[in-house]
Amino acid sequence: MTTTSSPRIVVLAGGLSHERDVSLRSGRRVADALRSVGVDVSVHDVDSDLVPALVQLQPDLVWPLLHGTSGEDGSVRDVVQMLGLRLLGAGPRESRVAWSKPIAKTVVSRAGLSTPDFVTLPQSLFRELGARHVLDVIVARLGLPLVIKPSRGGSALGVTLVTSPDDLPQAMVDCFAYSDTALVETAVVGTEVAVSVVDIGDGPFALPPVEIVTDGPYDYDARYNPGRTEYFAPARLSQDVSRSVIGAALAAHRALGLEGISRTDLIVDEAGTVWFLEVNVAPGMTETSLLPQAAEAAGLSLGALYRSMVDAALSR
Ligand SMILES: Nc1ncnc2c1ncn2[C@@H]1O[C@H](COP(=O)(O)OP(=O)(O)O)[C@@H](O)[C@H]1O
Ligand SMILES: [Mg+2]
Repeated sequence: MTTTSSPRIVVLAGGLSHERDVSLRSGRRVADALRSVGVDVSVHDVDSDLVPALVQLQPDLVWPLLHGTSGEDGSVRDVVQMLGLRLLGAGPRESRVAWSKPIAKTVVSRAGLSTPDFVTLPQSLFRELGARHVLDVIVARLGLPLVIKPSRGGSALGVTLVTSPDDLPQAMVDCFAYSDTALVETAVVGTEVAVSVVDIGDGPFALPPVEIVTDGPYDYDARYNPGRTEYFAPARLSQDVSRSVIGAALAAHRALGLEGISRTDLIVDEAGTVWFLEVNVAPGMTETSLLPQAAEAAGLSLGALYRSMVDAALSR
């Protein structure tokens, strides 16, 4: 569907998360792409001017490109909806469920997806029970290697792959610098892929899977500094596996009740099993981000794609 008059859009970018810079870059890129197809866009930070600005502007649509806490946990989305404005993307409640990695993993595994075995442990528990005892139980139960990550967060901040029990305490400390709760999960060896799902008018639609190959960890530096990571868009997967990863991303999007846009991070192991890691309701949209690469692989121009997503959100 295309609307004739140009909608007025407010893009939210910035915020006070660890991913503020990434968000500002995402916001600029999306705004530029939308302006290139004639959409009236303004970019706004999340600060004390935001509510009065939204009240005054009364935009047709608000597109939150905030990564990290207030943007992805649903709270800014709650405020936008309370102002009676429309959102592009997941609603506040669905965002909050997706934002918690352990809760999202529980929801998608009930919907039939595979996700690495895991436990969720708050920092306070380590103090109460003694870190040594808890870590021993974790290794005995889940084995090694393990991935330690903040139960909520993004951009691989505070994420560590642990292969030796000696490295566990430091990994926990690094994790608790970003979140008061750790997700401890079995490490999966395989091909890492990200599948972006967008709504361009006919419900959820998957863009081509993008494969991520890094020489070391796929960490913050590898993500945002060109050169350290090689991307293959579309991913070098057999047709069957490609269908499976797309199916998994669409199933996760639906099971979590998401709308408009999401990106699911997955690993395919040697046996062809697709493992759900997490889903992002505000995926990165910078020049090196995965969704724009997937769009390009699909032969879509970003301006046209984002305009279709805006129109789809407005017609919902
Ligand atoms: N269970 C796992 N097994 C292997 N690698 C993992 C696992 N979990 C995370 N990773 C690696 O860490 C990165 C960040 O983890 P992810 O769960 O996607 O969190 P973030 O929100 O920080 O992107 C992934 O892109 C992947 O490279
Ligand atoms: Mg991820």
